[in-house]
Amino acid sequence: MSSADRPHDRYAVAGNPVAHSRSPHIHALFAQQTGQALDYGRLLCPLDAFAATVQAFAAEGGRGCNVTVPFKFEAFAMAARRTPRAELAQAANTLRFDSEAQGGWLADNTDGIGLVRDITVNAGVPLAGQRVLLIGAGGASAGVMGPFIEAGCAELVVANRTVDKAEALVARHADVARQHGVRLRTATLQNPGEAFDVVVNGTAASLSGDGVPVGPQVLRAGALALDMMYGPAAQGFLDWARQHGAVGRDGLGMLVEQAAESFALWRGVRPDTAPVLREMRALVEAPAPH
Ligand code: ATR
Repeated sequence: MSSADRPHDRYAVAGNPVAHSRSPHIHALFAQQTGQALDYGRLLCPLDAFAATVQAFAAEGGRGCNVTVPFKFEAFAMAARRTPRAELAQAANTLRFDSEAQGGWLADNTDGIGLVRDITVNAGVPLAGQRVLLIGAGGASAGVMGPFIEAGCAELVVANRTVDKAEALVARHADVARQHGVRLRTATLQNPGEAFDVVVNGTAASLSGDGVPVGPQVLRAGALALDMMYGPAAQGFLDWARQHGAVGRDGLGMLVEQAAESFALWRGVRPDTAPVLREMRALVEAPAPH
């Protein structure tokens, strides 16, 4: 029986908004490639009814979901079980609706491992032993710190406009950083340090029309400068990076890689991300229809 004939398991991306999410397309490509029988749709959740909407989806036979803004914290809170990386992030982008007998719903956060894989595998840039600057201390940054530390960077500096938020994130990750021998500290945007090997922008600054929130001294020549966004929202940062001798990279690879990790958690099979990333890249960079 081909996957087209078998009953399909249902998954979705839950968020508000979700209309522009690329996740259904990415998961459809994964399902096709691996021969898994699943449907993946969009679940628009009212801002005050995330839990009820997701529970209704599960009651109708849904097997799991990805979670996007602004519900990653709620998703984490409502699960019966959490992976260690979700615990560190205090936020979840993936739920698997395991039965009570299996221990109940599992929350995971695949954003960080997705970013680490995009940097180390797709971009071919090592993180082990490197000096890394993470700009921002919101949900996006919280999701990636644990996997960065586990990847063995030498130093991780978290620079944020509101330094208290960076302090809180650093305090939460202090033990794991010590275990991995990673120097972990906070910094201001005005004085974040110099000549990092890898600079990651996890702020929403571009969405408010503001420029890059740190000076170019943070880039060593040839550094990797990655914005977690993609499309027009990442363009200003990428232009800045290239103007200052760094290699710019957007968040599309991270998006595909975090999806692959979620897919693997649900289905027990890890898709090959390279052809999917190529296809998504072509789609995102195609000229808009007139
Ligand atoms: P997300 O979940 O996408 O990370 P968030 O939790 O609202 O969203 O976090 C947004 C991040 O972008 C924060 O680090 C925020 O800085 P503050 O903690 O000081 O608010 C940062 N940010 C947003 N607009 C910014 C701007 N114009 N300049 C610098 N940092 C900005």
